[in-house]
Amino acid sequence: MAMIVLFLALLGLTSGLNINIERQCDKINPKVDLSDTFSENIAHAIHSMTVQGLRLFNPKVTEKNSVPTVNHNVSAPDLVVPYAPDDPIGHDFNTDVMNTIDHILSHIGLSDDGLGPYWSPIERVAHNFHMWDLWYRVHEEFESTVRDNPPKQDVCDCLMDTDHNGIRAAVQWVAEHYKSGTPITLLNRPIPKLTDAATWQVWKDRLLHYYDNNAAHDAALYLYCATKDF
Ligand SMILES: *[C@@H]1O[C@H](CO)[C@@H](O)[C@H](O)[C@H]1NC(C)=O
Repeated sequence: MAMIVLFLALLGLTSGLNINIERQCDKINPKVDLSDTFSENIAHAIHSMTVQGLRLFNPKVTEKNSVPTVNHNVSAPDLVVPYAPDDPIGHDFNTDVMNTIDHILSHIGLSDDGLGPYWSPIERVAHNFHMWDLWYRVHEEFESTVRDNPPKQDVCDCLMDTDHNGIRAAVQWVAEHYKSGTPITLLNRPIPKLTDAATWQVWKDRLLHYYDNNAAHDAALYLYCATKDF
């Protein structure tokens, strides 16, 4: 029995993202410290990116960016759009936190927040604040290791070629899996509905998956390249 559980656990860890990568950006220059899972790490960081999130990295960014994201319109034929959309919060409340909650709850049931049909209201709130939390984590990495030692143009050219380096395909993987569930990582592991303290522990563990230095550094390099020319 224990062996079967172990086998299923290993299967769960290995049956996630399986995409064809033509350009291995981690191999173009031995000095570039991208990890070999850069496309998964970067796709996770950007799959629900917005103009507002990109402005952490450069306040001049507009919708004319080329960061691929999950289409907010889940009925549209294209699951992925080739840019991060403008998605401003309102000003009816006094703080950004409350205005963000207002923004999320004002779209419940409208199928236009890019998450698909399966997320409960509190799961949508947790996802939104998690992404902002992760973007701040990536921004800390950007300030401490990338701003003063930015990648060369050849690395940026490879990272921005998202049709061939696996990033767009990994964002597409997320979009496809939103049609049937609420994936948090790109590892295809089942996740319970978020209903209590015990299920929150599972969610919390899953949400913290891409906060390590390697994943944050991969995303910081990409977001430097994606925002530097505004
Ligand atoms: C979403 O996509 C569908 C199908 O392309 C389209 O008919 C609809 O107008 C779109 N909705 C919005 C809000 O753009």
